[in-house]
Amino acid sequence: MEEARQEPGAPENFLHGGRFVRACLRRPVDRTPVWFLRQAGRYMQEYREVRKHHTLVEICKQPELAAEVTITAAEKLGVDAAIIFADLLLPLEAMGLPFEFQAGEGPVVHHPVRTAEDVRALRTDRGAELEYVGRAIEKVAAHFRDRIDVIGFCGAPFTLASYMIEGGGSRNYVETKRLMYRDPTAWGGLLEKLVTVLTGYCRLQVQAGAEAIQIFDSWVGSLSLSDYREYAFEAAKRLVRAVQEMGVPVIYFGVETAGLLEQMAATGADVIGLDWRQPLDVAWRAVGQGHAVQGNLDPITLFAPVEILELRVREILRAAGGRAGHIFNLGHGIVPGTPVEHVQAVVRMVKEYRG
Ligand code: CP3
Repeated sequence: MEEARQEPGAPENFLHGGRFVRACLRRPVDRTPVWFLRQAGRYMQEYREVRKHHTLVEICKQPELAAEVTITAAEKLGVDAAIIFADLLLPLEAMGLPFEFQAGEGPVVHHPVRTAEDVRALRTDRGAELEYVGRAIEKVAAHFRDRIDVIGFCGAPFTLASYMIEGGGSRNYVETKRLMYRDPTAWGGLLEKLVTVLTGYCRLQVQAGAEAIQIFDSWVGSLSLSDYREYAFEAAKRLVRAVQEMGVPVIYFGVETAGLLEQMAATGADVIGLDWRQPLDVAWRAVGQGHAVQGNLDPITLFAPVEILELRVREILRAAGGRAGHIFNLGHGIVPGTPVEHVQAVVRMVKEYRG
């Protein structure tokens, strides 16, 4: 039944959504929708205030706070979509792998997965623990109603596996690739468990009101095309299809993916998220016109003078050429120290752009 789906985003299945969701489905829109990866974060004063009193994980686990942070950022910027405030790593805890964010070091998983035995010990029956994300989405959806769209998200199996195995961020992914090459059975078992948990996690987000799901395969660009095909693609594809069956479009995003785009599009994702290393039109050709694209401003361009920023924003809009199915975004997340006025200026530029 899944295989019968030739085109991404069979429209009659998708019931909700405004300008952003329409663009995900390559339907005509009055103007290009815009939102930003990491639009709620430390570059924003209001977020830093909340962070003075709560840890990142506390914010995620208190629906009232997570909703507030999500809503404040989206309203301050005037974007067309609000991504729920959560973190990629939350499902790890529900799988029996506790982690913490250590100041200056990023996430640390205390007992990384290294053996088949470790994979066997992972839980797949505690997904309900992530309900707090659903409660936060309900609040955000109730707040915005039809004004802007609400995006849920999760990590892709490969990228989450890399955190579980490395125990945190990594430069070379040695432990991840070692397990992948040397114990394909354990690797397959790990991805299988991740697909199960992530499917349930996305379902609870959609049931709570998420109108699209973004799947972050942030570190998949560390793989060669052959290894992507062999070790990561099938699990990503299964997750994409399972989420589409829930009736919402899927955005599939990674960084440094120039060599993988065509294969990533073969997951059937409605939208492919692009980084900034190729011109948008070149990347869109690789993805194929049957998919929408999202991107692709270098987030560090937000530090440039507004005149230069405007040149780059217009270049991207020109490369999109007014074709249905472009969502303006960055090629990766906003970093700390980014001037908020420049992010707001980009929103204005996109809203005012006339071919
Ligand atoms: O506005 C939004 O984008 C929603 C919230 C969001 C967060 N994390 C909150 C957060 C989203 C979408 C994420 C996704 C996420 N988390 C990814 C995928 C996106 C990407 O960047 O490719 C990844 C890899 C993570 C894991 C993660 N979370 C890392 C590596 C770090 C530490 C990095 C750092 O800058 O310290 C985090 C922390 C994190 N998650 C912050 C935020 C706003 C940093 C701010 C804080 O500590 O309060």
